[in-house]
Amino acid sequence: MTKNSILVTGAFGLVGSELVPALQKKYGQDKVIALARKTMADDFIGILDKGDVTDFARLEELIKQYQINTIYHLAGILSVGGEKNPQLAWDINMGGLKNVLDLAVKYKLKVFWPSSIAAFGPTTPTQNTPQHTVLEPSTMYGVNKVAGELLGQYYHLKYDVDFRSLRYPGLNAYKADPGDGTTEYAIHIFYAAIKDGHYVCPLKPNTRLPMMYMDDAINGSIQLMEAPAEKLTVRTSYNFSAISFTPAELVAAIQKIQPDFTVDYQPNHTQAIADSWPKTIDDGVARQDWGWQEKFDLEKMTKALYEGVKEKIKA
Ligand code: SER
Repeated sequence: MTKNSILVTGAFGLVGSELVPALQKKYGQDKVIALARKTMADDFIGILDKGDVTDFARLEELIKQYQINTIYHLAGILSVGGEKNPQLAWDINMGGLKNVLDLAVKYKLKVFWPSSIAAFGPTTPTQNTPQHTVLEPSTMYGVNKVAGELLGQYYHLKYDVDFRSLRYPGLNAYKADPGDGTTEYAIHIFYAAIKDGHYVCPLKPNTRLPMMYMDDAINGSIQLMEAPAEKLTVRTSYNFSAISFTPAELVAAIQKIQPDFTVDYQPNHTQAIADSWPKTIDDGVARQDWGWQEKFDLEKMTKALYEGVKEKIKA
């Protein structure tokens, strides 16, 4: 085992499943340790270990064993899962991050942690939401994200921890199965289109939300971690944005590939969560500080997801 390894928690989640191979490609397979609580992909190639992020002693053991100097701490419960079990969301989302930050002080670790558009709430301006704005979320997940952003910044100011974070929009990908989130409708819809030709959408057709294709999110996350520290003016979490679309716009993009695809709109409890989040995000600070630039627009994303999900269903 070489020194200066990278630990990825939540390695088999939506983001982890694509971040781990990208990190392996960039830094070498022997430098990346994929950590999972229980889910492990059978076809995984690389270094893989088991552990729960709420278990401080286990995390410390792994950091020593693999000589970790960087953590991408992705393990967490999303917005819908958090409303089902707020206590569990608090324990995992806050307990895990607190453990990682305390270990970052002790072992001088660089930390990446995703925040989310869920950090915003009903009192936040919804159009071109600025970097510095009102953060009064109404979900447990959002409460965790705001608290985590502030805790990360606090550890940076007080203990000099190199904490870096992005407010992820809805991330759309096909390699892993979608998690328990509000924006994940934009992934489920592809499975339904290809399997059934029909989708029952849990959001109203005009519900605009900030979104991004996973390739862009992975590139941006690694780019932020590679940026020189002196360029970074935000140590809570950067606004991070690419595209914003409504279910109706996504349906129209899918119908360009599959013209007979049909949809019913039956808004459920996730509508209120979506309504509390911004429609578009101003991420000018990320673009200025470390050169953030996305590559995928709605059409390109739709094509990539459609083909990816189709291949996955075939296999
Ligand atoms: N995809 C997440 C959710 O909807 C947003 O961070 O919960």
